[in-house]
Amino acid sequence: MALFLLCYNLLLFIPGYYKYNTMNGILLAGGSGSRLFPATSVVSKQLLPVYDKPMIYYPLSTLMLLGIREILVISTPRDIPHIKKLLGNGAHWGIRLSYKEQNSPNGIAEAFLIAEDFIGNENVCLILGDNIFYMGSQLNVFSEVIGKNEGAIICGYHVTNPERYGIIEFDPNDTEKIVSIEEKPKSPKSNFAVVGLYFYTPDVTQKAKELRPSSRGELEITDLNIKYLQEGRIKMLRMCRGTAWLDAGTSDSLLDAAQFVQLIEKRQGLKISCVEEIALNRGFIDDQQFMKLIDTYKNESDYKKYLMNIMNER
Ligand code: TTP
Repeated sequence: MALFLLCYNLLLFIPGYYKYNTMNGILLAGGSGSRLFPATSVVSKQLLPVYDKPMIYYPLSTLMLLGIREILVISTPRDIPHIKKLLGNGAHWGIRLSYKEQNSPNGIAEAFLIAEDFIGNENVCLILGDNIFYMGSQLNVFSEVIGKNEGAIICGYHVTNPERYGIIEFDPNDTEKIVSIEEKPKSPKSNFAVVGLYFYTPDVTQKAKELRPSSRGELEITDLNIKYLQEGRIKMLRMCRGTAWLDAGTSDSLLDAAQFVQLIEKRQGLKISCVEEIALNRGFIDDQQFMKLIDTYKNESDYKKYLMNIMNER
């Protein structure tokens, strides 16, 4: 078994071996976190806890659940050392993590300029560091759709407060066809918000280079998506009702997210976004490595007890 996993893992890191699995992931975890001040005055928003684990575990585990193992973490010069200390190079979880700085919060789309070499000729997935997803069967739909990406895939989620998000307008005759995407519209044309999880073909870098800063001085992800829309190369994946999408960028939404995680975890006795468990279940690591991880966690926390239970129940 260990030999099989070793060979399988080696194959996954040969570029082009298996298209879906070799898609690269970018975890964008910079920003100023001004809405969470003073909690973010000396620490990244993404390192604050969401109930029982750091916020960054949630987007990281979403990438892992999507089968993405080659991940670039982008954050501020101040926060990279702390994030590196927390996540390391990923080898212990059977993934590969590298790091790059974003010198100032110049916008989400700047990630593709920073990640130009990392992206190379691979398709890429971008996830925002403060976005939390709780998906069930929706994950299978993702695997199908993103394997056929011909430009951009954005994900639409029904919300009650569309004025706060990038909002998708649909063709009344074809509810799958996107007509426009508007950033924080005063009169929203639908209730479908664009979530912080995006998929692009490698030409995203070229498109990002053509962007100009918006009136708020940022390279906007919405402007990037509009470029794909103008070329008729964008699709939307409608997130189903059973999927939860939370962002944790304000004090209220951070507390909501923590309470959501607490509720589900207490009820089921199963953790959301436990990276070690995902690594084990996805076959990124074997039982032996899992046990090794548990041994390195010195603190007798509930988290460690949970990991020990997983082994006991296998
Ligand atoms: P935002 O919540 O839009 O911005 P922020 O994190 O700076 O917070 P605030 O608005 O309270 O000042 O960012 C969404 C996510 O994208 C978040 O995880 C941080 C990340 N981000 C960057 O890493 N770089 C950027 O330039 C921007 C705009 C966001």
